[in-house]
Amino acid sequence: MIATIADTIRGRRTIHEFRPGAPPQVVILDAIAHASWAPNHYLTQPWRFYLLGPETVEAICLLNAERVRAGKGERAAEMKLRRWRAIPGWLLLTCQREADEVRCWEDYAACCCAAQNMMLFLWDRGIGVKWTTGEVIRDPRFFEITRIDPARERVVGIFWYGIPAEIPATLRKPPAEFISRLP
Ligand SMILES: Cc1cc2nc3c(=O)[nH]c(=O)nc-3n(C[C@H](O)[C@H](O)[C@H](O)COP(=O)(O)O)c2cc1C
Repeated sequence: MIATIADTIRGRRTIHEFRPGAPPQVVILDAIAHASWAPNHYLTQPWRFYLLGPETVEAICLLNAERVRAGKGERAAEMKLRRWRAIPGWLLLTCQREADEVRCWEDYAACCCAAQNMMLFLWDRGIGVKWTTGEVIRDPRFFEITRIDPARERVVGIFWYGIPAEIPATLRKPPAEFISRLP
């Protein structure tokens, strides 16, 4: 049966467990191309997508493990390292910074729309994503590893992707709880 857009929106879940093996990069590139059709005030197209290769991924995994080691000890660091190394696909999304505050907000909003476009596109093709904004993305060493200038770009998130091993269930409040009518 062909999924409708409503099925894809409701069915997409954040994926925490992936099967081994990265999905074909051509699909990821296609998802990014579709991401860029997000609504975007003034068409500034502020999104920057980085496809992370093995060297960068390993450096981020090690940095994160170091951070975990400092807070929770060696065993927790080793477990986290093993877990992060097993993530099949890594993508980074940043938003170009603007001096004007309103423009900054609008650009960030557009990047979030782009992220959702990308995730829905991938979900439709059987690929799950986890958008993560863990502490590591705010570590100054993260910017050295990725060679991103934090004065020019703000990290929207790391996006882990792959074939879902498990699809979690989640709930939302009934719409009546968040809809108000104004006269
Ligand atoms: C900006 C943003 C940051 C997020 N960061 C994390 C994260 O660091 N860790 C995590 O487990 N999930 C993260 N998520 C995913 C949410 O936890 C997830 O969307 C939420 O639990 C609802 O689940 P669903 O996506 O399956 O509907 C993030 C989502 C967004 C939009």
